Amino acid sequence: MAGIVDALANMAVTGLGALLGWNITLRAQNHLQPSPFPWQFADLLEHPWRVQALDPGQTLDLYGLAAGMNVLDLGCGSGLFTRTAAHMVGESGYVHAVDLQAAMLARAKRSLEEAGVLDRVALHHCGAYDLPLEDDEMDLAILVSTFGEIPDKLAALNELRRVLKPGARLGVTDELYHPAFTLPGTVRRLAEEAGFRLLAKANLAIGYHQVYINAK
Ligand SMILES: C[S@@+](CC[C@H](N)C(=O)[O-])C[C@H]1O[C@@H](n2cnc3c(N)ncnc32)[C@H](O)[C@@H]1O
Repeated sequence: MAGIVDALANMAVTGLGALLGWNITLRAQNHLQPSPFPWQFADLLEHPWRVQALDPGQTLDLYGLAAGMNVLDLGCGSGLFTRTAAHMVGESGYVHAVDLQAAMLARAKRSLEEAGVLDRVALHHCGAYDLPLEDDEMDLAILVSTFGEIPDKLAALNELRRVLKPGARLGVTDELYHPAFTLPGTVRRLAEEAGFRLLAKANLAIGYHQVYINAK
């Protein structure tokens, strides 16, 4: 019996060590060359533990999302936050979901169709530096676990300022186990450099939220 327990404990420690090593390697790699979260792991974005920890409805409430708003979900991935945002903006609102990876957008599209909210969402296959949106068009932009994956963060923030109305909000959330996790102080420094003003922040067991105002 003791032998089996020892073997299981050994396997658990080895498994955890391998996961930690993998995470550290990805972090180092991402620091040198930021890259998008692989679409092959999209299931992880929808994992019930993640959904429970981030609580999309509560997060979007904190960002100030309200019915009738025009919302941009930059780096929408599998559409977890896009779906909730589409429900919350209601019939008078609209959501623009942007992602670099076509496979992520295809998955987001399926899930939005299943949720019955595809008619209030436009999916855009593009990057963060040249958004297919008008100046001063958006009431809120959200970046959930996306900021660290963007190589030129200042260029992305400047583009976000362009499409956000004066006084509109930017919500940023990041998770500690995300390989491209960015320290909240780094996000704040860059956001303020671009012309955003911090309005609210909250710590999570697994990361943080920040809400900015577009101080145009
Ligand atoms: C970790 S996933 C998070 C997805 C989603 N926001 C969520 O929290 O469930 C980050 C997503 O951002 C996208 N992404 C990364 N860099 C991007 C960029 N420069 N422009 C647009 N999308 C980007 C990736 O393709 C990926 O789908």
